[in-house]
Amino acid sequence: MSESKRPLVLGIDFGTSNSAAALMGADGQMHTITLDGTRAEMPTALFFASETHTVLYGSEAMQAYLAGTEGRLLRSLKSLLGSRLMDEYTSVNGQSIQFFDIVVLFFKELKRRCEAQVGQPLTRAMLGRPVHFVDDDAGRDALAQETLGRAAQEAGFTDIAFQLEPIAAALDFEQRVERETTALVVDIGGGTSDFTVIRLNPARSQIRDRSADILATTGVHIGGTDFDRLLDLSTVMPLLGYRHIGTGGRPVPNSVFFDLCTWHLIHQAYTRKAMHFAKELWTDYADRTLHTRLMDALEGQHGHRMLAGVETAKIACSVTGEDALVDLDFLGHGPSEHLGASVTLPVMAETLQQALAQVVQCAQLCVERSGLSVVDAVYLTGGSSALRPLMEALRAAMPGARLVEGNRFGGVAAGLAVAGATQAV
Ligand SMILES: Nc1ncnc2c1ncn2[C@@H]1O[C@H](COP(=O)(O)OP(=O)(O)OP(=O)(O)O)[C@@H](O)[C@H]1O
Ligand SMILES: [Mg+2]
Repeated sequence: MSESKRPLVLGIDFGTSNSAAALMGADGQMHTITLDGTRAEMPTALFFASETHTVLYGSEAMQAYLAGTEGRLLRSLKSLLGSRLMDEYTSVNGQSIQFFDIVVLFFKELKRRCEAQVGQPLTRAMLGRPVHFVDDDAGRDALAQETLGRAAQEAGFTDIAFQLEPIAAALDFEQRVERETTALVVDIGGGTSDFTVIRLNPARSQIRDRSADILATTGVHIGGTDFDRLLDLSTVMPLLGYRHIGTGGRPVPNSVFFDLCTWHLIHQAYTRKAMHFAKELWTDYADRTLHTRLMDALEGQHGHRMLAGVETAKIACSVTGEDALVDLDFLGHGPSEHLGASVTLPVMAETLQQALAQVVQCAQLCVERSGLSVVDAVYLTGGSSALRPLMEALRAAMPGARLVEGNRFGGVAAGLAVAGATQAV
């Protein structure tokens, strides 16, 4: 990339599941950065390998964990922003480290990868943020943004600004519209669903203050990781005793299942106290096989593996429409038994019904607040916008609008780069 007088501002989309970065060059061209192998986006994941005492990032982190390498996987760190857990210490590679410092490590690696590709130091960043990091709590929401900014700063960014993720996605979409268009921009990611109704016009794309064109924004803290959790609870966890009616005619206590199904809480299921509690549950189980599986899952630390299996099945079923199997053969069992769970379209529709209704309601609220009766286009971005039942529900809720499938994983980063360049002019 050529030298520029205009300071380069790196657009950074720190996502719950995937992160991406982009830069508007001095030539006015968008440069998406290839963060992970040949891919633009990298999983927001770290793996602390205990034997080698190394830290792996992105897809390498996921692969090491799934290959059974000894160590600790961390995903969904964004979900911790604004919570007390951020300041807590956790044990990795025999050392105690704050979750905050793990976010800093991730930002440092992302910065290093970007700089290696661009060939110059990058110190200015335009960070994306969801409409709400935390629902219904302005204090914690502000804390989440402050913490994100501080992490980027500790990683070496000196100039930091923020833009809402759905507005960034809209600015990216605007690069491709030819005439004035009113759009509902839908960004459904791993942690949040964000919406904006915006008046797009390529002639106005260089204007710094677009607030007059932004007609409404709404957001809700529901995303793909919630769909994974709900599907894990409905398909896999019953095989470990969730909702199992035990000896006293009551269901087995369920907190362990909730931890095992929530990306950023899985580690809590493996603490000595939690393991002891789970072991003692055996008296509650009428069917001891289920308890043996639960203990296999905990002792083998298979939480991420089960949840990743559910996520893969969710995506496969969504893409093909066919039933997808979650292989659970790694849980100890008799030699002839094959253990698996199935994710199907009807299971998805039923299990996710309430969550999807909330997402669609939030989209409708956005249009309502914009004062428009209809929008010209519904622009879909974010990985979870491809979820089949969700797409169907959105289509039904917005009749008359053109549905445009966008740059699913890189759009927010590109829009942040546009915002960064406009600001730096
Ligand atoms: N084809 C698909 N069908 C359904 N879900 C999908 C598909 N592809 C990816 N996903 C889901 O999309 C989510 C990741 O999307 P994305 O990368 O946009 O999120 P993110 O930007 O990291 O999260 P957020 O913006 O909420 O912080 C994951 O939950 C993943 O399971
Ligand atoms: Mg996102």
